Amino acid sequence: APAPDEIRALVAPLTALEGPLLPMLHALQREYGFVPQDAVPVLADLLNLGRAEVHGVISFYHDFRDAPAGRHVLKICRAEACQAMGCDAVAETALQRLGVDWHGTTRDGAVTVEPVYCLGLCACGPAAMLDGQVIGRVDRDRMGQLLDEVGA
Ligand code: FES
Repeated sequence: APAPDEIRALVAPLTALEGPLLPMLHALQREYGFVPQDAVPVLADLLNLGRAEVHGVISFYHDFRDAPAGRHVLKICRAEACQAMGCDAVAETALQRLGVDWHGTTRDGAVTVEPVYCLGLCACGPAAMLDGQVIGRVDRDRMGQLLDEVGA
C-alpha cells in the first residue's frame, strides 16, 4: 500500500479545486486502482472533514473501490429490462460459483463482480460486461462459459 506521504503528495495539489474531495478520490483510484485505507485520514486532514464523512463519500459512490479489483471485472446488469429476462438467476449462479457477494473479489484475485444498472443492451438481456466488453443474452450457460474463459 502507498505511504501516507505519497498519498498526500498526489492529492494535495487538488486542494485548491472547488469541491476537491471527488477529484482527489478519482486521482487516487486512477493511480492505485482503488482508494487506499490510508488515504482517509490524509483527505480528512487536508479538507478539514471528519474521517466518517470521507468514508461515507467513498462508500456512497460505488465506482470507488477500497481494495484492488481482481484481474477481471464482471459487471452484471440488474436494471429492469434485464430483471424481466431473468438476470437475477444468472447473477445468483455466478456469485455462488465464485463464492463472492456483489462487489466481491474471488480469493485468487481472478474476478471482481459488480452490479450495473443498464448497459444499453436492454433488447437482448440479460446483459453483462466483462473487462469493458458488453455481452448480451447472458443466460446461465453463457455465464458459465464467461467464467470458464477467465479461469474462475
Ligand atoms: Fe440491462 Fe438495459 S436493463 S442493459
